[in-house]
Amino acid sequence: MSVRQSSIDSLSCKHDFYSEFLGDIHASEETTVAHVFVTLGASGDLAKKKIYPTLWWLYRDGLLPPKTHFIGYARSKLQMADIREKALPFMKVKNGEEEKLEAFFKVNQYISGDYNSQADFQKLNQLIAKIGSCNRIFYLALPPNIFEPATTQIKNVCMSQNDQWTRVIIEKPFGRDLETYLALRDHISTLFTEEQIYRIDHYLGKEMVQNFMVLRFGNSIFNPIWNRNSIASIVISFKEPIGTQGRGGYFDQSGIIRDVMQNHLLQLLSIVAMEKPPSTNAEDIRNEKVRVLKCVPPVNIKNVVLGQYTGKPGADGEAALGYLDDPTVPKDSVTPTFAAAVLFVKNERWDGVPFILRCGKALNERKAEIRIQFRDVPGDIFQPGLVKRNELVFRVQPKEAVYMKVMTKVPGMAFNCEETELDLTFEKRYEHAKFPDAYERLILDVFTGSQMNFVRSDELYEAWRIFTPLLKSIDNERPTIVPYEFGR
Ligand SMILES: NC(=O)c1ccc[n+]([C@@H]2O[C@H](COP(=O)([O-])OP(=O)(O)OC[C@H]3O[C@@H](n4cnc5c(N)ncnc54)[C@H](OP(=O)(O)O)[C@@H]3O)[C@@H](O)[C@H]2O)c1
Repeated sequence: MSVRQSSIDSLSCKHDFYSEFLGDIHASEETTVAHVFVTLGASGDLAKKKIYPTLWWLYRDGLLPPKTHFIGYARSKLQMADIREKALPFMKVKNGEEEKLEAFFKVNQYISGDYNSQADFQKLNQLIAKIGSCNRIFYLALPPNIFEPATTQIKNVCMSQNDQWTRVIIEKPFGRDLETYLALRDHISTLFTEEQIYRIDHYLGKEMVQNFMVLRFGNSIFNPIWNRNSIASIVISFKEPIGTQGRGGYFDQSGIIRDVMQNHLLQLLSIVAMEKPPSTNAEDIRNEKVRVLKCVPPVNIKNVVLGQYTGKPGADGEAALGYLDDPTVPKDSVTPTFAAAVLFVKNERWDGVPFILRCGKALNERKAEIRIQFRDVPGDIFQPGLVKRNELVFRVQPKEAVYMKVMTKVPGMAFNCEETELDLTFEKRYEHAKFPDAYERLILDVFTGSQMNFVRSDELYEAWRIFTPLLKSIDNERPTIVPYEFGR
């Protein structure tokens, strides 16, 4: 067994899916077609913190096709050494990996150019052409206002030829509201087919989000209780213990609803609430996600609480400062840094069950989780008030876990009951397993051509339809924003 194959197996011990695709990709080094991965915006924050480190981990673990080359493109006049220096602190290189690291940077190049210059993209294309006939991936690590010129140039000048493919990865934000999204959608769809576009919502690459499907559809016990008859409410939360860290001006353009709720939390809602797809095929899953989103009416501002953090008196560092203390944030900003919203899914399974989405910055901890709260036990025979509702919790991060709150008898002669947990904490159960980073899984998906973990255009349409009226009310009507102290 080759080193590459054993690495694939160790990463994908639970993912025959990947072995299957990668088996094809790695069929034979001689006959394998070359691949090029182009990062547009290679000088930027996402590139150094996520893209280069992820490419390195995939390369280091032998998960990429043998003849894969990497090209960074941005306006800044940089050398590859500069990109390397920026990314290195995030690459977590271990002792003994030095030789591999050199090999990785040997297949990396950087070229500078403008995003709307055909001549510059022609130079990029010439560089790619030197690799020979190859499959091409373009990652747009760029501010959204550059998407249009950059994608136009890719289409005009840089598409692969013959029977090799071209795929384009786009990062959120996919617009600011339904109108701007539709403009972006119409532009992109004139250039590329849906199969060529990979819209990243990195929550879909998280281990627990993927596991959710297996737990829901791979266990017969859940389906009969997965409905309005047994479930009282579903709470989906995202909490961050940090503020905007000097990037408040940038955050102020979006706010927590656009940043987290409209995408990450709504994606989780759709996976929790969807019907069982006919198969694990990407289109079957995405069809079901869209079907459930179509049943969600626009969020009513009456069902929403908005907050903005203030500094904590006497605290050190960032916690001492409120959102409005950031000099890059307008002093009268009503941009929410916290939001809680109740959504409903008007279908036979969920009618009347509140889906409570909550997300915020500058809170007391870092956590993302889904809580399924069951109804009270009917005809309770125990002491009144003793029996608590069952709750099934999926902790997405940190420390992935699934646990079920159940009632049990306290051991001993007395007949007392108390709440306890059936606990599946993954680091205990799978002590030596490697949990791939979400970006690792997603970038590998692009190589393998799996769109299961990417957002389809009609999903985005529904997401914007659900949130645009609320966002417009916030932008135009300046609703009451509840102040909360940093760390609450
Ligand atoms: N940073 C993150 O952690 C993160 C997380 C999730 C999503 N995203 C999304 O990923 C994309 C890239 O994010 P980022 O944080 O890496 O952005 P960034 O650092 O602000 O920008 C990336 C690169 O784009 C170029 N650029 C910036 N402003 C430009 C302008 N006005 N005109 C032309 N070029 C410009 C710059 O390169 P040159 O000047 O050298 O051309 C810059 O290095 C964005 O869509 C962002 O919303 C980022």
